[in-house]
Amino acid sequence: MLNLVIFGAPGSGKGTQSARLIDSYGLHHISTGEVLRGEIARGTELGKLADSYISKGNLIPDELMIRILDDMLPTLLADGKGVVFDGFPRTIPQAEALEQLLLKHGTELHGVLGLEVPEPELVTRMLKRGAETGRADDNEETIKNRLNVYHAQTQPLQNYYQQKGKYLPIEGTGVVDEIFTRIATHIEKHTGQRPRK
Ligand code: AP5
Ligand code: MG
Repeated sequence: MLNLVIFGAPGSGKGTQSARLIDSYGLHHISTGEVLRGEIARGTELGKLADSYISKGNLIPDELMIRILDDMLPTLLADGKGVVFDGFPRTIPQAEALEQLLLKHGTELHGVLGLEVPEPELVTRMLKRGAETGRADDNEETIKNRLNVYHAQTQPLQNYYQQKGKYLPIEGTGVVDEIFTRIATHIEKHTGQRPRK
């Protein structure tokens, strides 16, 4: 089993590298942002609530986010392959909850892959995607707040996981394949596990 957090600022490539990870290592993927955008698209009550936070670039409350993850975990962990957590945890309480939830299921977190990308590049990537896909929170004003929220509430997790010996820093600039090779190297060094293909 291999449980990984893919960590980094908005636009750092978490979703892009998650796709490579699940394919190469045969893992399951949960992107909390995608889960919430799905709820918004379906117009559910949860979606309406989530939209009021996401559209401003703020985090949805920990308690709600943790409950959603708790509901999804049994399915994600059922076959024992492992999970890539993308966009979760984003706060210390979420990180503590993840540890407890994995423990409850008899497993643990094996590593935190921290994609490190300079801020100007993050902004360029998100503005480009906003123009190409119309993702609602990829506009200048919301991006600014997403980055502020990241620095205030999420970046402290880097130190949190460093202290636990689980933080693996990854240079997140360059070609997608190159970044993935760096990730695979770190995973092998840290856990001994190699891609299945
Ligand atoms: P979420 O969906 O997680 O968004 P995010 O963290 O802001 O990150 P992105 O999805 O924008 O970027 P990414 O790191 O996945 O990069 P990607 O691969 O897409 O969260 C959205 C919102 O949901 C939050 O603001 C919050 O409101 C809420 N939320 C979610 N989780 C929550 C939680 N746990 N608690 C509370 N609230 C939560 O790449 C970005 C772009 O760059 C793409 O266009 C991609 O093609 C491109 N790109 C990727 N790699 C490269 C490369 N190497 N070179 C050039 N371009 C690249
Ligand atoms: Mg993403």
